[in-house]
Amino acid sequence: FHVDWDLVTAEKAGFDHFMLKEIFEQPKAYRDTMMGRVSEDGRSVQLKEIGMTLEQLKAIRNVHIVACGTAYHAGMIGKQVIESLARIPVETDVASEYRYRSPIITPETLVIVVSQSGETADTLAALREAKRCGARVLAITNVVGSSVSREADDVIITQAGPEIAVASTKAYTSQLIAFYLLGLYLAESLETRDSAFIAEVLEAMQQLPEQVERILSQSVVLKQVAESISKHSNLFFIGRGSDFAVAQEGSLKLKEISYIHSEAYAAGELKHGTLALIEEGIPVIALITQEDLYEKTLSNIKEVKARGAHVLGIVNGGSEEEVGKSVDELFAIPKTLPLLTPALSVVPLQLIAYYASLALGNDVDKPRNLAKSVTVE
Ligand code: AGP
Repeated sequence: FHVDWDLVTAEKAGFDHFMLKEIFEQPKAYRDTMMGRVSEDGRSVQLKEIGMTLEQLKAIRNVHIVACGTAYHAGMIGKQVIESLARIPVETDVASEYRYRSPIITPETLVIVVSQSGETADTLAALREAKRCGARVLAITNVVGSSVSREADDVIITQAGPEIAVASTKAYTSQLIAFYLLGLYLAESLETRDSAFIAEVLEAMQQLPEQVERILSQSVVLKQVAESISKHSNLFFIGRGSDFAVAQEGSLKLKEISYIHSEAYAAGELKHGTLALIEEGIPVIALITQEDLYEKTLSNIKEVKARGAHVLGIVNGGSEEEVGKSVDELFAIPKTLPLLTPALSVVPLQLIAYYASLALGNDVDKPRNLAKSVTVE
């Protein structure tokens, strides 16, 4: 009796690729990242890893979030979360730009660096520059003992587990969970939100893992979407607010593993130039999950439809009927609070990127020209 196996196959645990395995590990990653950080009664956030006193928290005048690639996209959501929950002004920079624009960093600035690996050279250099200017640095990273985790003042470890695929998936969504926890922690400490609101968000967060499972159970539908997308050489992602930030992540994911050119646009910006590129049959993935922006985004969808685009709408559960009339195809994510939709709406985009890459016969886990950890500037 002879069993053929190798370590890599065993590590994929029955999945064809690490990326797919990691996409499916997200419910666990959400639960693990929240574990031990929410009080037993579910009403408050406990971030024991943050060593700042209440005085130090109150002294924060501004926040800079610095990261690269997908971690930067998580930072874009982080900006919206911290600004809306804690009412502190936040700037978000890609790390390779940060140092060279002579940012105004003071001891009242909290610099948050985000890095799955904790070894990205540009992010590490930004961290050092921030410290040199006297700022306190908080790191959100997935790797205990990484350079970033060793040099930061405070460290929130995302509990995503090892991420092998070059395309980051579960690390990104765990970073979002870390930002939600941090935003709520700041809101509670600085009393910018009342306890009933915080409890409501935490309750909705507890439902996210099961809601992601429901999305994953519909992967067959997204495989079909991806196969039709893989026949095109250009497409667009559009959205407003946090949907725009998720659109950028969806576009990057698709580019890096399928090599299909795509662009993410703030939906309201289309008519300032990019609309000229919309032609008959071009796929447009429109994220439309934010209730207060529905009408505005719907009118942008109508603009691209009128020029012949084929639109896939990603909507928040409950709005299928309303949005359904204006799009060609629809994918509904389970209903959650507007603040939390990125943690769900990115999942169909990850699956579309994965299946498009697969349909094109690419090396999904090791896309050309890219490395998992970029340790050179
Ligand atoms: C993600 O899909 C990318 N491969 C890449 O953008 C990555 O997120 C970036 O290089 C940052 O890596 P880090 O999180 O390890 O710092």
